[in-house]
Amino acid sequence: GFFVGTAVAGGGHHLEQDYPDPFTSDREYRKILGRQFNSVSPENQMKWEYLRPERDRYDFGAADAIVDFAERHHQVVRGHTLLWHSQNPEWLEEGDFSDEELRTILREHITTVVGRYAGRIQQWDVANEIFDEQGDLRTEENIWIRELGPGIVADAFRWAHQADPEAKLFFNDYGVEDVNAKSDAYYELVQDLLEQGVPVHGFSVQAHLSMRYGFPGGLEENLRRFDELGLETAVTELDVRMDLPEDGEPTAAQLRKQADYYQRALSACLAVEDCNSFTIWGFTDKYSWVPVFFQGEGAATVMTDDFRRKPSFYALQATL
Ligand code: XIL
Repeated sequence: GFFVGTAVAGGGHHLEQDYPDPFTSDREYRKILGRQFNSVSPENQMKWEYLRPERDRYDFGAADAIVDFAERHHQVVRGHTLLWHSQNPEWLEEGDFSDEELRTILREHITTVVGRYAGRIQQWDVANEIFDEQGDLRTEENIWIRELGPGIVADAFRWAHQADPEAKLFFNDYGVEDVNAKSDAYYELVQDLLEQGVPVHGFSVQAHLSMRYGFPGGLEENLRRFDELGLETAVTELDVRMDLPEDGEPTAAQLRKQADYYQRALSACLAVEDCNSFTIWGFTDKYSWVPVFFQGEGAATVMTDDFRRKPSFYALQATL
């Protein structure tokens, strides 16, 4: 009943455009992916940018391949994501749509995508990163909230629930590991939505951690307060980045500290009753998004570029 997952690399902006997709072309990668995990999350392949090259065309190729792979390997799938401010296609962000049209576009997307995989997705990140650091809704950046108002978030959950009544529907964000302004905003919103009968089932923390800032010591307490609202909780995108020395090789001390972060994140989840899903954002440094998105930092996953197990890998194994 406990799921240990990884993101499935592919389609990322950090991989060269014509770089062969690791999921389809790296045999060693696929072997580990199939053996070490019982949950998988498409890193990019279910985002709007990839599923919706044009308004009237869906491209399900890469997403279907992941869901099929997962079934063959007895793995569950976390769907990611339906309503987000980032990685949306240009035709959507730059398009000139009436409110009515935009609403229809979102409803059709959710109905089609969630419906296509109905019964095959364990958890959906319905709404991703809707609050900013201060705990204010992203009313400018998020096209849906900007154009249609905050009520669209509840509608997204309702439409997803209609399309797949079995899938657990989540709010997902980064920077919400601790009890802070941003996680407080979710805590308020979720209570409000539950009172209105909106089908919200889970709250998840991405947990893109950096050794620069220390471990979020309030993680367990924070997960527990959402648990006590009757929600499932999850860790969905854990990685632990570090400042890389000149030669690019982490020191033994850095690797030990990283292992400690991984272990503490897993322990926090295991300690909370309905925290049943724990996902790392890729398992090898070879394909990690971190060095491209965070200057000077890297080595954030549990395996080296050549798939050697790091202390963090063993720390997770020992904790399970
Ligand atoms: C990242 C992917 O890892 C990259 O490949 C992509 O280029 C950008 O997005 N929060 C999320 C994830 O919810 O979807 C992001 O994934 C990382 C931060």
